[in-house]
Amino acid sequence: MLQMAGRMGVLGTETAFEVLARANALAAAGRSVINLGIGQPDFPTPEHVVEAGRKALADGHHGYTPANGIPPLREAVAADLWRRHRVEVSPDQVLVVPGGKVTMFFAIMMFGEPGSEILYPNPGFPIYESVIRFSGATPVPVPLYERAGFSFSAEEVLDKITPRTRLLIINSPANPTGGVVPRSEFDRLVAGLERHPHVAVLSDEIYSEILYDGAEHVSLLSYPSIRDQVILLDGWSKTYAMTGWRMGYGVWPKAVFAAAERLAINCHSCVNAATQYAGIAALEGPREPVLRMVRAFAERRQAIVAALNALPGVRCAMPGGAFYTFPNIADTGYDARRFQSELLEKAGVATIAGTSFGAFGEGFVRFSYANSLENIMDAMERIRIFLGNAPGRMAAAS
Ligand SMILES: Cc1ncc(COP(=O)(O)O)c(C=O)c1O
Repeated sequence: MLQMAGRMGVLGTETAFEVLARANALAAAGRSVINLGIGQPDFPTPEHVVEAGRKALADGHHGYTPANGIPPLREAVAADLWRRHRVEVSPDQVLVVPGGKVTMFFAIMMFGEPGSEILYPNPGFPIYESVIRFSGATPVPVPLYERAGFSFSAEEVLDKITPRTRLLIINSPANPTGGVVPRSEFDRLVAGLERHPHVAVLSDEIYSEILYDGAEHVSLLSYPSIRDQVILLDGWSKTYAMTGWRMGYGVWPKAVFAAAERLAINCHSCVNAATQYAGIAALEGPREPVLRMVRAFAERRQAIVAALNALPGVRCAMPGGAFYTFPNIADTGYDARRFQSELLEKAGVATIAGTSFGAFGEGFVRFSYANSLENIMDAMERIRIFLGNAPGRMAAAS
């Protein structure tokens, strides 16, 4: 009998991948399935980026690269952060890794251990809580409220900080809610964090370029007073439709950069060389493909929010960023998990239960609108029929 380490028992997962597998199995069996569960752009990587990757392979970039990433890529990241956030970053603080998730994993493993506490958003990206538990640290949820546009309250976050708190995780624009934290809330948070220099902050800004209606992205890196506490997580996956290339980056405080780099050397050595060249082309190339994609998301966002709000028992706030909506389905009479599974099995629409993002996600379901307008509207019609025949509603009414 093989004996795994005890910590394997607390590792969670991302339901999105399980739903994807079930949706694919139904489709393979001949069912028509519309996938609004998946968290990746439905656009191809821009052609000039693909071409740069192809050229890198043809030019013989087949070997290991420096563990932290090739210098021109780290310089391009620093220039991009200046262009977007007006923050000066030394390329020596940039650690290029195989996907945004890796910065998350490293930061949590670096600071989490038994006896320590890590604050994380709930509902939030499920991997935060999973890896916090894996590290042995105690996960301390920061609840996000629908009535506050799914922003956190700075006072509530600060109240939860104790001498045992090692890390605070922030995510704006957010998965699964699409919520965008306003600058005033960040200002209050940062003013309080200045009193807690022992707390590191992981700022997950992977959706920083997917914003609507002129919503402003505030990077936590732009606050000089906490600069030595902040780990910025960003990358290429969402902005440039490059989820399968597997590349992201972290900007680390100087004091812990060497430790992060050592984790990289122990884990993956370096990111795929050709992908790194493609990454330079993405950052330095034309912005139009990114803007075009965001325009398409913006149009779908309007359509899906209006359609969701027209459904019986469903209430949906307008998200400010990312490509998700997080409607409240409590009045349909379904709980989140049953809504997800019956909608997929009976109506062929894949979504993700809010509880997959933490206990505070009960009563909500995540819809991704990274799908065509036509498919989205077809899905909405299927849900209308599904809810019309819904035993869940009748049970609630009786
Ligand atoms: C909030 C958040 N952070 C990080 C990631 C991970 O991105 P990557 O695919 O680059 O690892 C995701 C992906 O869904 C995400 O939603």
